[in-house]
Amino acid sequence: MTKAQLQALLNEMTLEEKIGQLLQLAPAFFEGADSAGQITGPLLGMGINEETIYRSGSVLGLGSAKEAIAIQEAHMRNHRLAIPLLIMADVIHGYGTIFPVPLALSCSWDLELAKETAAIAAKEAAVSGIHITFSPMADLSRDPRWGRVMESFGEDPWLNGKFAAALVRGYQGDDFTKEPYKLAACIKHFAAYGAGEGGRDYNTVDISEWMKREFYLPAYKEALNAGCEMVMTAFNTVDGVPATGNKRLMRQLLREEWGFDRVIISDWGAVKEMIAHGVAEDERECARKAIEAGVDIEMMSPCYTHHLKELVEAGEVESARIDEAVMRILELKQKLGLFDNMHRFADATLEMNMVGSKQHRQVAYKSALKSCVLLQNNHKALPLQKEERIALLGPFATSNDILGPWSCMGRPEEAVTVCDGMKTWQAQTGQGSLTTVGCSVENISDEQISAMISVAKTADTIVLALGESSEMSGEAGSRANINLPESQLRLLGEIHKLNKKIIVILFNGRPLDLHEVLSKSDAVLEAWFPGTEGGNAITALLYGEGNPSGRLTMSFPYAVGQIPVYYNHFNTGRPQNAPDAQVRYVSQYLDIPNEPLFPFGYGLSYSDIEYGEIALSSAELCAGEELQLTVQITNRSAIAGEETVQLYVRDMAGETVRPVSELKDYQKIMLAGNESKQVIFTITEEMLRYHHSDLQYSSDPGRFVAMVGPNSRDTEKIMFSLK
Ligand code: NOJ
Repeated sequence: MTKAQLQALLNEMTLEEKIGQLLQLAPAFFEGADSAGQITGPLLGMGINEETIYRSGSVLGLGSAKEAIAIQEAHMRNHRLAIPLLIMADVIHGYGTIFPVPLALSCSWDLELAKETAAIAAKEAAVSGIHITFSPMADLSRDPRWGRVMESFGEDPWLNGKFAAALVRGYQGDDFTKEPYKLAACIKHFAAYGAGEGGRDYNTVDISEWMKREFYLPAYKEALNAGCEMVMTAFNTVDGVPATGNKRLMRQLLREEWGFDRVIISDWGAVKEMIAHGVAEDERECARKAIEAGVDIEMMSPCYTHHLKELVEAGEVESARIDEAVMRILELKQKLGLFDNMHRFADATLEMNMVGSKQHRQVAYKSALKSCVLLQNNHKALPLQKEERIALLGPFATSNDILGPWSCMGRPEEAVTVCDGMKTWQAQTGQGSLTTVGCSVENISDEQISAMISVAKTADTIVLALGESSEMSGEAGSRANINLPESQLRLLGEIHKLNKKIIVILFNGRPLDLHEVLSKSDAVLEAWFPGTEGGNAITALLYGEGNPSGRLTMSFPYAVGQIPVYYNHFNTGRPQNAPDAQVRYVSQYLDIPNEPLFPFGYGLSYSDIEYGEIALSSAELCAGEELQLTVQITNRSAIAGEETVQLYVRDMAGETVRPVSELKDYQKIMLAGNESKQVIFTITEEMLRYHHSDLQYSSDPGRFVAMVGPNSRDTEKIMFSLK
């Protein structure tokens, strides 16, 4: 349809029909639903009748092509103007083939791979009838107590933006209106949902405008620059006003300043939640505030449906507001091709052949392999020797709860457990022996521990697969204590007493407090929720067929009391020179270090990588020119490996305070055994810009430090100045 035809359609619609377009419902409301989809919030009675359901403009959370086709057909039979539904879902890290959770995937630092996973997710979802995914989530995350850190890309604003943009490109392709099997993407949660106080989900956010612009907003912007089609509002407040009714945030910043003219959707029930927030007396006021703020689609609450008509008739909401929202939705339907083909790519046969295909599983394997982070490897405990007799113990030895909390239509029964992976490997190689005992995540009985000890006694090496169940992170999965569950620590303690080699594999959705785990084990491999091919990828890493290359994108705290702890912090006026509790009046804890247990960028491998001295092409940089920074990276071992060479910069004196270190670039290089390579980074004036106190974005002349290293802590430094 042309714009004129869409306008003609809009002109033909009654006010009720227009308002219908602004309502999004879960499939449970629709004829043809088979309820296979996910419910991701409370399903409250919404007080809506059948007529309203058939007038609605979109549905979320479907789970099959059959269901999508049935719902669309029922809808089209009943809609006076035959305007098709938009079908949306949370396709977060895969649809049927499940990739590592986003926090894990970001530890690969591999943007092409991230894009590839999103393209596969789009393909599987598109043939299953989905048009739009509620992904990526670009919420900067500094608080591991928050369960949703698993869905984020960590604590760095720049890397966060790169991953958000890569996922958008994967889902949407170069042009989702022309290419087959693409989805439209929805960036969320606008804005700053990751900054909830105390790491408690849905909690208050109150950060300065400057902080927002420096750290929290850039990644959403990056996603929009990559062409992201839709934006979802956050549940939290921003400057005292819930984001969903926040005119300054949505209309002024997002629409006017950033020029975003496409669809904005609320989060689940967030329009009505303004009553609980205490900024609206009733549903009517919620509706007025949300539409004025610029929210086009109300997800799963009925404020628009019940009250927009009377608000327009009373002159409290301009009808132009409704028309502009409806037009944006119609345009999106047009872009998705729904007026020509209401089912788009939904096809049960393709769905059967494509979802979970061998090819897709290969990418799941590769991404799991690259997302694991080796945190500790004392005395080269890993890789395992082929002939070692292994006791594989603990809750995740045999558990298939390894897909993660947002695993869409992924089936746990299709996931490869660690036990499956190791058994297959041993059968293929004809080497080693394996005895496995599983248990539950939170309640391991004394009898079970005794049984595991007996098995452990007969083995050379104990592989303990520990962690959090997927229920313990994700939405509404905040935890105040981020240790492993008590009974797992008890199990570890008992096994430790045997004085044998202990390898811990961790399955979890957040950085954990790992003190006890580190002190009682030889090696620790962070596997996160690795997805469908987890067990195979972990086995390859354990036996040295793969070399761990993942690097943390979120700091692991030394203790919960440090949180938030992140690498790009400010120096303060009284920085700590060296940890020393005797020194008073400096910014430090008396009882623990300031530094996290594992810093941003950290991760070990089986290779032995050496960083040479760094050199700059000049000690001075002028605007419009470039500096070349070179560093020689050498593999001192015979084991080939991938190194993530990281470039950080510190501005020694700004107009506002500047972080002690900021990631500016990185390069992933492959080094064969004993190979040496020169890495060259380019530094430009643009990379040194920041928001000043008047929010202007520019650089200042002065001194800078460039830092290069394998993580944000262990860097080589060199000074330069900007003229
Ligand atoms: C609530 C979550 O916050 C959001 O991320 C998700 O997309 C919606 N529910 C829809 O399921």
